[in-house]
Amino acid sequence: MKIGKELISAVEIDEKLAEMGAAITDDYRGKNLLLIGILKGAFVVMADLARHIDLPVEFDFMAISSYGSATKSSGVVRILKDLDQEIADRHVLIVEDIVDTGLTLSYLLKNLAVRKPASLSLAALIIKDGVERPPLDIKYEGFHIPPKFVIGYGLDFDGKYRNLPYIAEVEGID
Ligand code: IMP
Repeated sequence: MKIGKELISAVEIDEKLAEMGAAITDDYRGKNLLLIGILKGAFVVMADLARHIDLPVEFDFMAISSYGSATKSSGVVRILKDLDQEIADRHVLIVEDIVDTGLTLSYLLKNLAVRKPASLSLAALIIKDGVERPPLDIKYEGFHIPPKFVIGYGLDFDGKYRNLPYIAEVEGID
């Protein structure tokens, strides 16, 4: 495969994260916010989004099984690493890199809701349009893109390209 055309630039990503961070700052002022990043992809979004949130937030991470080397969702979700802390009575915001089939997030929402957080909301940098998925209330949305496989800014192909500072298409797959 080859890195294809740039879809979203580093500057556009930063501007969008600044908007999302400002909205989160307004909504959670006076609350004790816990950000939960979904590994591995969300580590880049998490780091940059958090620096646009002007509140004393706390962090935790979950690792979920992802696509491996294929580019289609299998629908199988496995927790590889659970949270380090209890979330009962906490205001929780899940930070995700990309929503494709939505299977990962709908599984996570169910899994975390039973732990009785004070609130449980979603932030996602990229949402793929034209994909059938369970209803998901994404409170903080970044970009909508066509249902193509993309890499960069935390998103991988076969484990690589997460460190690209922008989002790109992929050439030479499927
Ligand atoms: P979903 O459960 O189908 O919504 O998939 C969510 C996860 O699949 C994301 O957190 C990514 O790890 C991975 N994923 C989905 N689409 C892409 C893509 O276009 N590029 C890279 N990874 C993707």
